[in-house]
Amino acid sequence: MVNTKQIHSLFPSELDIPRDLRHEYIIDQTEFLINGKIEEWDGPVKILYSPIYIDKSGKYERKIIGKHPLLDKDTALNVLKAAETSYNYGKGKWPLMQIEERIECMSSFMEKLISFHDSIVKFMMWEIGKPSHEATKEFDRTIDYLSDTLEAAKDIAENNLEIHDHEGIKANIKAAPVGVVLCMGPFNYPLNESFATIIPALMMGNSVIFKPPKYGSLLYQPLLELFSECFPSGVFNTVYGHDEDVIIPLLNTGRIDMLAFIGTSKAANILHSHHPKPNRLKEVLGLEAKNPAIIFEDADIGNSVRQCLKGALTFNGQRCTALKILFVHSSIVDKFLGRLKFEIEKIKIGMPWDEDVTITPIPDAERIKYLSELVHDARNKGALVLNDNGGYHDKSLFFPTLLYPVDSSMSIYHEEQFGPVIPVVTFDDIQEPIRYVWQSKYGQQISLFGNDRATMNYVVSSVLHQTGRVNLNTICQRGPDQFPFTGRKDSAKSILSVKDALAEFSMPGIVAVKDDYEGIEMLSAVLKGK
Ligand code: G3H
Repeated sequence: MVNTKQIHSLFPSELDIPRDLRHEYIIDQTEFLINGKIEEWDGPVKILYSPIYIDKSGKYERKIIGKHPLLDKDTALNVLKAAETSYNYGKGKWPLMQIEERIECMSSFMEKLISFHDSIVKFMMWEIGKPSHEATKEFDRTIDYLSDTLEAAKDIAENNLEIHDHEGIKANIKAAPVGVVLCMGPFNYPLNESFATIIPALMMGNSVIFKPPKYGSLLYQPLLELFSECFPSGVFNTVYGHDEDVIIPLLNTGRIDMLAFIGTSKAANILHSHHPKPNRLKEVLGLEAKNPAIIFEDADIGNSVRQCLKGALTFNGQRCTALKILFVHSSIVDKFLGRLKFEIEKIKIGMPWDEDVTITPIPDAERIKYLSELVHDARNKGALVLNDNGGYHDKSLFFPTLLYPVDSSMSIYHEEQFGPVIPVVTFDDIQEPIRYVWQSKYGQQISLFGNDRATMNYVVSSVLHQTGRVNLNTICQRGPDQFPFTGRKDSAKSILSVKDALAEFSMPGIVAVKDDYEGIEMLSAVLKGK
């Protein structure tokens, strides 16, 4: 564990930065993608800072990593026009293409995307402080997601040919696009979670307007050309800027058909309220969570500590699926906390390029303030920080913090910290954590640690209808992408998996006839395009 006096030395001087990460990851971006063209913007820009501070002879400054355009309302509306024109009420080139042809475009996009591996990983390190091994994982799973989507789309192509026959009606049911989709991804998975909506949206024939996340936008700049090369004009467009200048005007037009947004429920509600015809707006929303872990008296302490540590602290706890509160049975709490504290103190804190690092600089300065307030509030109400340097923060680094005993009077009991703070609550009666799940505003996932089959069975049946997934003796997580990723209450409004996402970003288009000679002849002629 680092002593607080040594913390400054965790931030590098220019010379400490690995050579291959030094200069090329600075981009002064003045372009955006509209109607298949990379257009120059000569208006205001936003200067972008890395969460990594640089030691300049004892003075610490956040490294400037570039800039991006701050588009205005008129430009955003031009982007919408381009997306609408390419969609052309569903008569555009892309929505009318056979799925097989779209699969070809997407395959070639995927092949070329692979060559951006190193640059995207390095941008993630600079832009959001993601450890190199986590950024690599994010890139690789995105390629897997793309490749699995191509396979799933082949099944849709086959289904699209089928003729269904019920109650004297014959029909062909095709998965049809929705229209113009506005995609907004989160900073913590700037590539994967954005692509998890962009890929299915494009695959199903929609036109996309994409606003990259607040942190993690520069990694898209080198991809603009690739998007423009692989898809017809106007099918994929980008916007940058303040929501009030760009996103709200787009929604206010009422011409956005679908919103794919990963972020907070508060922001989602605001976006929704700006669409004048909200019933026309199809939504895919991935929102916040407060996933609990319950550790029963017969749990394997070694495994539960390892899993809770990983579940709570991976990438500074900045995962929607992170374990955000631990309920530990009072009979094992001392043993559990002793082991957890020991493991926390071994955790590596440093820069994203350091090997095996877990805690790295946090991009959002407001988050550091918020985490300190949560710890302060809990301490004032009787919780202790159990580990060395817990609660300590310096610039963009927030040290892992084990808080105990936590109770319902404290904000951390209810609110999503989205950071490396682990609140522990003790319980005697299993109804206490079950009530927590029932009464929570959120319902994404839960982890249960124990061995007794009857207890596990009882708790699973008590919480399964209040949450999206119950994990037994393992962490909460999104993957595998073949499983439905969803949540209840304020945690999600959609189901995403490779297959479910293709359904979310499409609508069944049905052509039906009476099951008689004329009907069948007409249906077959129409489907053959005669
Ligand atoms: O932040 C939300 C992500 O979808 C979580 O994905 O569980 O694989 O880290 P993960």
